[in-house]
Amino acid sequence: SRSGARPDPYHVLISESMLQQTQVATVIPYYDRFIARFPTVQALAAADAQDVLRLWQGLGYYSRAQNLLAAARMIVNDFAGQVPSDVESLLRLPGVGRYTAGAVASIAFDRRQPILDGNVARVLCRLERIESADVRDRETVARLWDLATELVPKNRPGDFNQAVMDLGATVCTPRNPQCLTCPLQNCCKAFAAGLQDRIPAPRKTRITPLVKRQTLCIERAGKWLIEQRPPRGRWASMWQFVTIAPRVAGELARCSTKLGRINHTLTHRRYQFDVYRCRANGTDIPASEAPRKWVSLTELSEYPLPKPHLRIAKLLAAHKHESPKR
Ligand code: ADE
Repeated sequence: SRSGARPDPYHVLISESMLQQTQVATVIPYYDRFIARFPTVQALAAADAQDVLRLWQGLGYYSRAQNLLAAARMIVNDFAGQVPSDVESLLRLPGVGRYTAGAVASIAFDRRQPILDGNVARVLCRLERIESADVRDRETVARLWDLATELVPKNRPGDFNQAVMDLGATVCTPRNPQCLTCPLQNCCKAFAAGLQDRIPAPRKTRITPLVKRQTLCIERAGKWLIEQRPPRGRWASMWQFVTIAPRVAGELARCSTKLGRINHTLTHRRYQFDVYRCRANGTDIPASEAPRKWVSLTELSEYPLPKPHLRIAKLLAAHKHESPKR
């Protein structure tokens, strides 16, 4: 750690998993709740997947939560309950790639191991004036890992790695880098050439596909019908209001009220949920593919829901006193 004492390897595994794809400020409250609930790797290994997902709700990239649970179980079963200290063993843990392995080895175990994330990549590209068209192409990534490997010092490698990440997050930012206050200004090849604003080259902007859905909020006697998503894929094993793909453009059945439209943007997809409220009075038949439950809005808070469905639940709470058309 930055103060000299080594942090708990389990804590580092959790925080670095959360910090992938997610900003520090967003992670902090999630991290605190997670560690309070599962203070040790043994506690996490014994957890229920639904409880872990519920704690992860809103953080996105939910496979990270499932992977961490599987990793904790592997640590307990195959590593005598100790987070391994070598990169090779760390890489065997579900969800742990080169980045997380390097982070845990260097930060928790003081191993001379490099790490490369988006921030580090940007710092290194500027230092070495790497102008390649796309920082994410294979050769560039390999070159950046080599560079990070050369640079990481034997002395306090974890502090070094975190310092480079912090530099990327606060000084060597994607736009308007603060070169005048940068401690690496005099060895930065991009700055020397005045190219810091053009390195790394911006990512090609792809138009992300729009996925249209119809969400049916079906009420029966004060309870709402929810279904569990499949165990793989986006929002795996989380719960949602009944959602279908519309076959043709246009409105749904007449017996429903349109409550609104929820837009949700992810990295590679944009989602549009048209939300309808319907009332049912029939009885369940057992032959549905997805697990389903009837729950009150209060009970709903115990289930892990994708962010757009949390917003739908808020819509429902706001429309509590309206009844759907007959
Ligand atoms: N981003 C991800 N992990 C980090 C760390 N350990 N320090 C600073 N920024 C980070």
